[in-house]
Amino acid sequence: MRDVKWGVLSTAEIGMKKVIPGIQGSNGNTVYAIASRNAKRAADAAAQAGIPVSYGSYEELLNDPDIEVVYIPLPNHMHVQWSIKAMEAGKHVLCEKPLALKTEDIDKLAGVSKKTGKFLAEGFMVRYHPQWKTAKKVIQNGTVGEVRAIQGVFSYFNADEGNIRNIPEYGGGGIWDIGCYPVMTSRYIFGEEPFRVCALLERDPKLRIDRLGSVIMEFPSGQASFLCSTQLVPCQRMTILGTKGRLELEIPFNAPPDRKSQIYLSRGEVYQENFQLLDFDVCDQYGLQAESFARTIRGEDVQVVSLEDSRKNLKVLEAIFHSAETGKWENVD
Ligand SMILES: NC(=O)c1ccc[n+]([C@@H]2O[C@H](COP(=O)([O-])OP(=O)(O)OC[C@H]3O[C@@H](n4cnc5c(N)ncnc54)[C@H](OP(=O)(O)O)[C@@H]3O)[C@@H](O)[C@H]2O)c1
Repeated sequence: MRDVKWGVLSTAEIGMKKVIPGIQGSNGNTVYAIASRNAKRAADAAAQAGIPVSYGSYEELLNDPDIEVVYIPLPNHMHVQWSIKAMEAGKHVLCEKPLALKTEDIDKLAGVSKKTGKFLAEGFMVRYHPQWKTAKKVIQNGTVGEVRAIQGVFSYFNADEGNIRNIPEYGGGGIWDIGCYPVMTSRYIFGEEPFRVCALLERDPKLRIDRLGSVIMEFPSGQASFLCSTQLVPCQRMTILGTKGRLELEIPFNAPPDRKSQIYLSRGEVYQENFQLLDFDVCDQYGLQAESFARTIRGEDVQVVSLEDSRKNLKVLEAIFHSAETGKWENVD
């Protein structure tokens, strides 16, 4: 079967550094075009990444009939508008997280997807990595007993006032940028939705974005908590605790494409040298995401991150912001 031809909206860093190489290295996919608001920037990016076609506007790329899928790594506040334009132009869409900043917008997107018959998926690449699928299987096998608690950390340091993450009007801040991952993966592991959350968010006084957050989510089967920060030393870890054992994902979110990922399994041991190591062949989660998306549009697979899943994740994120404002537990309705 012929390759799926992708077009990329913008010369965003995540596209150039991770997602485009991931798509290019995957089976059945070609990155055929890239667009920028600036024609020279688009041409330079195309030359750098080995992409045959470049456009000096996003609209021109959407008008190219050869493109089947559009990948959107624009600033967060532009995701809804451009996903709609791309679907209305007849393209399937893989859009970066967070797909939207309000649940009503997911409903709007779902309506356009239905009307146009085009697939739309949020780019939660972690869900395609074998380490998360294995974590889920190990839990379903009962190896760690009953999962009752999940604890996560995700942090990095970026106080650059020009960065999209530090502009509140662009959907900046730690919860939108990285808090969405422990929420998504905790929901995935429990296989349930949290019914209430409690959150403490500290805002940068100058940038106004949330730069440090601590969140507790109460699920029917247990509790998940996480810390995320845009102004702390880089760190990421997810620990899943059951009644008999524990799983610890070493690099749960930015699993590297050039070295093995690892999960530590403890059946009660406390010293790391006694843990069982589950390791995974080198793989690129962005490439796996592209392959899965291509299979979905060809009707050979079901969409891994459905719009319903994205909507439920966003409901939790909204409740987190609500709780941070009221200082109280807030229900996830
Ligand atoms: N899944 C992941 O692992 C992952 C990792 C990082 C980021 N992300 C997501 O990817 C998206 C992009 O993040 P990034 O860090 O790569 O962003 P970035 O480097 O700042 O790129 C954003 C791009 O959007 C375009 N753009 C259009 N209007 C803009 C405006 N008003 N201000 C700034 N840029 C504008 C620019 O491209 P042109 O100038 O070429 O038009 C810019 O290069 C975000 O939604 C983020 O949440 C996902």
